[in-house]
Amino acid sequence: MIFELKSVNLDTFEAISSRRAIKKFDSNYKMTSEQVDSLMKLTILSPTSYNQQNWRFVISTDQDVKEKISIAARGQAQPKDGSLVVVLCGNMDAWKTEPLRYWKNHPSEKQETVKAALEKKYDGNPQNLRDEAVRSCGMAAQTIMLAAKQMGLDSCPMVGFEYDELANVINLPENHMIVMMIVVGKRVQDASQRGGQLDLDEVVFQNKF
Ligand SMILES: Cc1cc2nc3c(=O)[nH]c(=O)nc-3n(C[C@H](O)[C@H](O)[C@H](O)COP(=O)(O)O)c2cc1C
Repeated sequence: MIFELKSVNLDTFEAISSRRAIKKFDSNYKMTSEQVDSLMKLTILSPTSYNQQNWRFVISTDQDVKEKISIAARGQAQPKDGSLVVVLCGNMDAWKTEPLRYWKNHPSEKQETVKAALEKKYDGNPQNLRDEAVRSCGMAAQTIMLAAKQMGLDSCPMVGFEYDELANVINLPENHMIVMMIVVGKRVQDASQRGGQLDLDEVVFQNKF
């Protein structure tokens, strides 16, 4: 079903280079539930360490909710004007919540090995849990943005929000953290020119720093 979704004729390189953080979305454009579903099905194919899938996504196409999210985002218009808001959250209990199912397609020895590894890495280690939430959601965020391009849509990644206000809007459970949100929709205005990338020499090192 994912692969039957109508997509624009774009290759991966083009999707990467044409993705921009869009500020102005068409408030009349509505994604279909099939589009949203396909986008999220692609998103959960993103990699996570030990396949622990410690992300949780709050999705909204509801205008009232999106307006509340815009208020929490210090008045930024993207959530209310975009078609879909995805709030990417980390579940800090994922490592211990029926962890055998993360390798359900594999033999039980593999499942038990992963369970033990998860306990070793995350039990009593909030820093590791937090880092993992940010890594997993970061991976998923890029998938959302590139898949949106392939669907002929645009996106804006956002962390400019009042954490507690947004937590309240989405009813964030205990032991979860909000990592970021992504707005997806139809742009009505191109992004301004790129801020400017650093030279490769400054950010890429051969073999060591
Ligand atoms: C984690 C993160 C948070 C961001 N938060 C916001 C935001 O709150 N509002 C906004 O308009 N843009 C936001 N941006 C967009 C960045 O400003 C933008 O990605 C950056 O300037 C590079 O531009 P480009 O994405 O168009 O290449 C955010 C981007 C990232 C990755």
